[in-house]
Amino acid sequence: MMGRVEIAHGVNLDTLGRRDPAVYGALTLPELEVRVRGYATELGLHPTFSQTNHEGEYCELLHRAAETADGLLLNPGAWTHYSWAIRDALEVAALPAVEVHISAVDEREEWRRRSVIRELCVGRVQGRGVEGYRDALAMLREAFER
Ligand code: DQA
Repeated sequence: MMGRVEIAHGVNLDTLGRRDPAVYGALTLPELEVRVRGYATELGLHPTFSQTNHEGEYCELLHRAAETADGLLLNPGAWTHYSWAIRDALEVAALPAVEVHISAVDEREEWRRRSVIRELCVGRVQGRGVEGYRDALAMLREAFER
């Protein structure tokens, strides 16, 4: 089977729904996953989902990702901005990846503008809420077709 996508949420994304809804929307993570599963299915992709608040676990997930996925959709939360360990683990994964952020990280605090995974990703979506996941999945599908 081709088109298997691991959708990996990182630190604090399990608190969606309680975090400032003006920034992150009102959906909980399980609700967001239902929506994203729908987008993926429409695009003919096969999603699996994970979330952890532990950086090492996120790295280990990336180490193993190629065994079960053809591509990655990553929202590592705040780790995006500084975790060189996750950046290196993504290099080990050696899969096409798209970076996605619910909020407009480029228009918020200065420190959110940096992404240490950006150069390893085939695309990046930010500030489009849950809809952004559809765009990110479409980018990944394009990468599969290349
Ligand atoms: C986030 C943006 C990050 O800056 C923040 O730390 C998050 C969520 C987003 O999806 O908008 O936890 O990745």
